[in-house]
Order: sequence, then structure tokens, then C-alpha cells
Amino acid sequence: MAKRMQREKWASKIGLILALAGNAIGLGNFLRFPVQAAENGGGAFMIPYFVALIVIGIPLMWAECAIGRMGGRHGHGHTAGMFEVMWRHPLSKYLGMLGVVIPFAVALYYIYITAWTLAYSYFSLTGNYFGITTREAMGAYLRGFQGVEPNQFFSSIGPAYLSFLITLGLSFYIVYRGIPGGIERLGKIAMPLLFLIGVALAVRVLTLGTPDPNYPENNVLNGLGFVWNPQPERLTDATIWLAAAGQIFFTLSVATGAIPTYASYMREEDDVALTGLSTASLNELAEVVLGGTIAITAAVAFFGLAETEEIARKGAFNLGFQALPMIFQRIPLGQLFGGLWFLLLFFAGISSVVALTQPAMALFQDGFGWSRGKTTAVVLAALFLLCQPVIFFLKHGFLDELDFWVGTFGLSLFALIETIQFAWVFGMERGWEEITKGAAITVPRIFYYVIKYITPLFLLFILAAWAIQDVPEKLLMAGVRPEDVPYVWGARVLMIAILLGFGVLVKIASSKKEKGIRP
Ligand code: TRP
Repeated sequence: MAKRMQREKWASKIGLILALAGNAIGLGNFLRFPVQAAENGGGAFMIPYFVALIVIGIPLMWAECAIGRMGGRHGHGHTAGMFEVMWRHPLSKYLGMLGVVIPFAVALYYIYITAWTLAYSYFSLTGNYFGITTREAMGAYLRGFQGVEPNQFFSSIGPAYLSFLITLGLSFYIVYRGIPGGIERLGKIAMPLLFLIGVALAVRVLTLGTPDPNYPENNVLNGLGFVWNPQPERLTDATIWLAAAGQIFFTLSVATGAIPTYASYMREEDDVALTGLSTASLNELAEVVLGGTIAITAAVAFFGLAETEEIARKGAFNLGFQALPMIFQRIPLGQLFGGLWFLLLFFAGISSVVALTQPAMALFQDGFGWSRGKTTAVVLAALFLLCQPVIFFLKHGFLDELDFWVGTFGLSLFALIETIQFAWVFGMERGWEEITKGAAITVPRIFYYVIKYITPLFLLFILAAWAIQDVPEKLLMAGVRPEDVPYVWGARVLMIAILLGFGVLVKIASSKKEKGIRP
């Protein structure tokens, strides 16, 4: 009992919302969203995207905030324990465990990408890549930096590794400072700064006009039109629906276990309805308005529509790390704007990194009764070690393999399990009560039915489509170069090992609780 009273709490309402916004707003908003939108036909993407937001995004956000607050009441900050509260069955904790495994595995590569943004901020401010004016050369610069292909720009992975160490160290310093002292404070600083920088960059992009009079179609208006002209005729393309739903999971941080963990530090009487809605709204503001304006519009204005689509298709990082640095070189004060762009990414990234580590932190703190210091040291050591293959085997597709199984397939799987657990096993009557208890807004009753019927059906459809369209190809390693096959297997073994490892930990935590050993 004593332990329950000691669980940390958010210090203020605004702090909670900014922390949750920091959790949700991440690289996904500024790097992944523009690429997904451009790859999937711009305006064609936006209708499925908003449908997915309403039908799965916001319902899951509410359900997860409610599950988290309820878990906190029972002394659980991790979904394994929360699932046991909802369903007293020996299997329950292993289903819930996915909400600890997924964020932990995502963290393995998310930290490294966040580190690149820190380095690129420095390279922009110091003008390091200024003078490299072709896309090919900027691509070589990126590959040199990543250690994928040592070249005249970078002879070693040293700078990337150093930024990894700084990013990891800083994240764990914040986590170590605790919920109100570290994560909440970070949200209060990073989120306002992020929006400020984002608005400044968006205004700069919107005033680009027609950069090259020789190419009159390459202009800001056509860039905006690309994102905003809906194309109803493409609504029957299943691929676009999958991409849109996947983006909604990823960007809102739902179906990863991280939102319930943050919500577990709420007070019993805190509202979840308005909090969840505010978090989703802030995220969408950052994603659709800022993320949609900055990268895509600038790229269309400088490179044109066709080339922008091609850049997006060639790789997830090409728009942010290759096309935009070329644009910064062509505008006044480009070093400053470049520095700001990557700093914005860094703020977005680091406030998500701390959220990705928190479910594992909660498992040790709440499940094992460990102190925050000890937990921080153990989780830091584990992440540090397990990040090494991601860093050194980048060129062999290690990161991509993790990202597919964990960051794409894993999310939709956990979303379905969680929705069924909440709406059907726990029961929608009780679930609705949890969502509306202490609510500062009236949640429209229709969402009772949406969460009970439409969300799970939609998720089932998505999972089935994925299982048919993408999973067999991925399993059989279509398109993987023969020399990369062992590394891809390595990534799979690592994921299975992480799953089994957490399985053992969850079993121990659960039996400690049964025996009442845990204070
Ligand atoms: N929402 C984050 C982004 O947009 C990515 C993410 C997914 C995440 N799940 C998470 C971040 C869990 C923190 C915790 O970039």
C-alpha cells in the first residue's frame, strides 16, 4: 500500500498535457508524415488519414488514457500490470507486455535517428555541408555520416556515434530526474520552443513564392495543393489506407504502451477526455499544419511535384536530411534556418525518446520495487548495448527490419489486442465509465459504439490486409540482398530475445505481486 502512495504524479495539468504532447509529437510528425503523404499521392492520403484519426486515433487515445489512469490507481505504470487489472487471467500480462516490448524496441533505433538531428543541427549552423549542392552528393554526405559508406565527407562513424552518446546521456538524465522533475519539465520547455520554431519555419516556407522563375509550376501554392487537393478516385486503394492508419498509430504514440504509462502518473480525479483530445489536437497541429507545410511545400517549390514524390519514395530520410539541406543553401540565412529545422527535430525526438523508455522504467519501478536510480542504470545499460547492432549494421537493413515488425506491424497488432481487451473483455460499460469519469468535456455517446464496434473492426481489417499484403513478402525477405540476410536474421533473433526477456521479467513481477512480496 505504501508503495502506491509513493508513485510519482504530474505536478500540473498543463505540464501533463505538454508531456503527453512531447510523447506524441516526434520525428513521425516532421519526417515520417511528409514522406508518407508524398509517397501516397498527397491529397489522396488525407481522407483516409482523417478517417483513421477519428475512428482509431482519438478512440485509442481516450482508451489508453483511461487504462493508464486506472492502472496507476492499482500501482501499475506498465501495460502488463494494467492488462491484469482488466482481465484476471494468467495470459493477460503477456498480452499487455507488448506495450513494454514495443516501445523498448522502437527506442533502439529512434534514439539513433534523434542523434542524427542533433549532429545535423550543428552541421547546419556551422555551414559544414554548405557547398554540397547536388542530391547525390548530399546523399553521400548522409551515408558517410551514418558510417554506411566512408567517403571524402566523413572518414568514420565517429561524429554520429558521439551524437548518439550525447542523445542517450541527455535522455537518461531527464528520465533519471523523474516524472515532474524531468519529463514534465522537458515538455514545458521543449514543446513551446518546438511550436515557435515550427511556426517560424512554416512562415519562411510560405513566403518562398516561386524560387526559380524558369520553373513557374514549382511554387508554394502547388506545394500546398499537393497536400490539400483530395483525390476521391484513389480512395479504393488499400495501400493508401494502410499507410494512413499506420501513420496515425505512429504519430499519436498509441498502441505502443507509452500513453498508458504517462497516464498512470495522473491523479484519480484528473480528467482523461479533454487531456486525450488536447494531446491528439496538439499532435495534429504539429503534424498536419507544421509537418505538412514545411518539408513538402519547400520541396515542391524547389524541386517540383514529380521530383518530390521521387525523393520521398527513395528513402524515409531523404526529404529531411537531403532535400531540405539543399534548400537551406539557397535561401538567405540558410545556416540559421537549417539549424532551426534540425533543432526542431531534436526537440521532437528527445521528448519521444524519454517516453519510449518509460514503460520499461515503470516495469522495474512498479513491478520490482526498484529505485529510480537503479532502474535508470539498468535500462540505460540495456539500451546502450542493444543499440550497437542498430548503429553498426545500419547498412545491412537492421533498422528497417526492426521498424517493420515493431513500428508498423507490432503497433496494429497491439492496437487490436488492446481494443478487444478494453471494449470486450473489460467491457465497454466499465470502459466508458473510466473514460467519462471526471471528464472536463462531454464525450459524444457515439464514441461508445465506435470504440466497441468500429475501432476493432477497422483494426481487424488493417491487420488482415497487412498480413496478406506485406507480411509474407517481409517474412521471405523479398528484396533483401543476399549479403544482408544474416543481419536481418540477427534483427529477428534480437526481437525474439527481447520478447522472451520481458516475458520472464513480467512473470517475476506478477508473482511478486501475488505473493505480496512487493511492498
Ligand atoms: N509518436 C512518435 C512520433 O511521432 C513515435 C512514437 C510511436 C512514440 N510510439 C511511441 C514515441 C511511443 C514515444 C512513445 O515520432
